[in-house]
Amino acid sequence: MSMSSKIMAGALGLSVFAGAAIGASHGAPSDDQIKSAIKGRQAIMQLYAYNIGTLAAMAKGEREYDAAAAKAAADNLAAVNGLKMDGVWLPGSGTASAKNTRALPAIWESGSDIGKRAAALTEAIAGLQAAAGTDLAALRGAIGPVGKACGACHEDFRQSDD
Ligand code: HEC
Repeated sequence: MSMSSKIMAGALGLSVFAGAAIGASHGAPSDDQIKSAIKGRQAIMQLYAYNIGTLAAMAKGEREYDAAAAKAAADNLAAVNGLKMDGVWLPGSGTASAKNTRALPAIWESGSDIGKRAAALTEAIAGLQAAAGTDLAALRGAIGPVGKACGACHEDFRQSDD
């Protein structure tokens, strides 16, 4: 493909994409949009789990404490937490109407506390970010509140396994 036809293809791709987005803003989200929103938020959750897993292994002594790796994992948690997440919490993508999700309808009910749960996680992650690279004792002290913040949201808004 020549350079100019690549640019053309790119521009066309972009306009198709923008068209889809504009179309979607009228009316209910499509099944594909719902599926991608679910996959997107589950991927975000997996990134949380991966990074907190690294830190938990160090806290439990299953993995040798490494200040740089601990700091990196805490920074990653903060980076993931800093993503704009409105898109992945698309209304209509909960267990009431969608498959392959454990997100409870309470998330979208008026007066939902999910914003508070998210804010609590942000605060706990900030504490962990400050502590994780200091030493093992500091990491151990700061990881608990993060685990609690994850768990509190799951308790209210994620369908239990059993
Ligand atoms: C604001 C609420 C909230 C917070 C905070 C939260 N979660 Fe979740 N989490 C959910 C919901 C809701 C689901 C179900 C998502 C779905 O199935 O669509 C979920 C799902 C998950 C999953 C399963 C993902 C999958 O592939 O199905 C994992 C793992 C997870 N969370 C880990 C974490 C960890 C670790 C933290 C803390 C660092 C955390 N979560 C913080 C709400 C939250």
